Formats: sequence, C-alpha cells, structure tokens
Amino acid sequence: MGKQTLSIIGMGKMGEAIARGLMDSPLRSGYRILGTTRTAESARDAGKDLGIEVSTSNEDAIRSGDIILLAVKPHQVQKILESNQKLFHAGQLIISICAAVTTDQISEWSGGKTAILRAMPNTPCLIKSGVTAICQGPRSEDSHLKSAERIFGELGRVTVLEESLFDGVTGLSGCGPAYVYLMIEALSEAGVKVGISRKQATALAAQTMMGAAKMVLDRAEHPAALKDEVTTPAGCTIDGLMALEEGKLRVTLIKAVLAATRRSKLMRK
Ligand SMILES: NC(=O)c1ccc[n+]([C@@H]2O[C@H](COP(=O)([O-])OP(=O)(O)OC[C@H]3O[C@@H](n4cnc5c(N)ncnc54)[C@H](OP(=O)(O)O)[C@@H]3O)[C@@H](O)[C@H]2O)c1
Repeated sequence: MGKQTLSIIGMGKMGEAIARGLMDSPLRSGYRILGTTRTAESARDAGKDLGIEVSTSNEDAIRSGDIILLAVKPHQVQKILESNQKLFHAGQLIISICAAVTTDQISEWSGGKTAILRAMPNTPCLIKSGVTAICQGPRSEDSHLKSAERIFGELGRVTVLEESLFDGVTGLSGCGPAYVYLMIEALSEAGVKVGISRKQATALAAQTMMGAAKMVLDRAEHPAALKDEVTTPAGCTIDGLMALEEGKLRVTLIKAVLAATRRSKLMRK
C-alpha cells in the first residue's frame, strides 16, 4: 500500500504533538503529513520546526487528505467543516480530537460521506506518555479504528470507549494532567516547608507520582492494595492518609472530574 496523506487541521499544541509523535515513529514511512494553521506565521513556525508542509489552506489539506485530523478549538470546527463541505468524499476518514464535539455533529457539518472517529488524547502525548480514548462514529469500520489505534499508540496508551462516555473521559484524562500538576506542586510546597530545596522537592514529588502510577499500571492491582503496602501499622503513612481524608482529597478529586465533565457537556450547548 502507498503512502496515505494525513492532513492535520490545526497545528497547535495537540496537532503538533501528533505530527511529531508520528515522525519519530516507524509509521513515518506510511504517511505524508500536511498541516494547517489560521495564520501564516504559525504555519511557517510549525513547518520549519517539524520539517513538514504546513499552510493556511484547509481546502488543499482536505482535498488531498486520506485521513483528516481535526485539532482546532471546538468552536472552530463547524465553520471549517461547513465551508469545505463539498471537498469531503467517501473513502476519507475524519478523526476529531476536539472536546465536546460529537461524531454526529461532524458527520452533519462535513456532509455525511466520510467515516468518522473521535479521539480524546492528553498533553503527555507530547512526550509519548499520553493516554487516548477512541470511539467509532458514522461509517467507521474496524480498519479505521485500527489506523487510529496505531497513530495514537505512538503517543502512549489507547483505550476504546463508547462515545456517551467522552465527556467523562475529557473530565478525567483530558483535563487530568492539570489536576496532577497541582498535586505535584502542593507536595513540592510541603517539601519546601520541611526544609528541602524547591528543585529537589519537585523532583521527589514528581517521581513519586510517576512511580506510583507505574506500579498501578504494571502490577494491575487495585490502588487500595498498593496503598496498604506502604501503610505500616502505627507508622507515618497512616497519619498522612488521615490528614488527606480529613481534607476530603478523595471526594474533591471526584468532584473535580464531575465539574469538568459537566463543562464538557455544556460546551456542546
Ligand atoms: N490541550 C489539551 O490538553 C487537549 C487535550 C485533548 C484534546 N484537546 C483538543 O484539541 C484541540 C486543539 O487544542 P490545542 O490545545 O492543541 O489548541 P491550540 O494550541 O490553541 O491550537 C489550535 C490550532 O488551531 C489552529 N487554527 C485555528 N483556526 C484555524 C482554522 N480556521 N484553520 C486551520 N487551523 C486553525 C491554530 O492556528 P493559529 O496558531 O494560527 O491560530 C492553532 O494551530 C481542541 O479542540 C481541544 O479540545 C486538547
């Protein structure tokens, strides 16, 4: 099979991360990557940075794309698709990473001929440590899902979910890195409070987060069982855990995900 053209509409943070991830991977030889931005200046910067063709012409990118990846802000999607509706044709695949925009909306705005998938990556995709949820939309077949799994698999883990859960995925793993940065920052402050330098405290906090997360993923055990391993009877950890329970960390995190999920739903209205 010859090279497929992957047109990335919106070479911002996420569009660029996806292009970069693919270019650093064995998939590189299978794709010709084109990108677009709104302004000529961003196009020039992104093109120079990545060594790929980046322009301000969505028309050209859509016309020549086998896969069209939408990575613009959610409120920009409708206008871009409707104004280029005539260019979409059967045989193309649209993958949208735009929060709160449904595959049915994309199908309607793009004229209902292409296959459609939706994906929700997160910013650690920038360093190939992301997680991406994918769901199938109108006219998408298993081969389309496999292509998307391969592309996002180069940027971290991939999980396939129902589209009805996508607002929740946005609230959990899409926004989640921000919650974790806040926790790292707070732990680092605590380190400073007990006399550790800011730099060392941040490294201790961040590596602790990463190590604990890796334990959960690698050992596939319930986090509560791993927590028990750290918690010696009458030791120090149980005192720390009591303070966290008193401060309602657990329910606060649940509320954070629910609030972001609600916002994602509201954005659609
Ligand atoms: N950031 C996240 O953590 C995250 C995670 C998951 C999903 N997402 C989704 O990813 C999408 C992009 O987010 P982002 O953070 O990457 O945004 P971003 O950094 O602001 O990038 C948006 C890009 O879209 C371009 N653009 C704007 N209007 C355009 C147009 N008419 N035609 C072509 N390109 C256009 C911009 O170009 P200019 O620079 O020239 O304006 C910019 O390159 C959003 O829908 C968001 O919901 C984001």
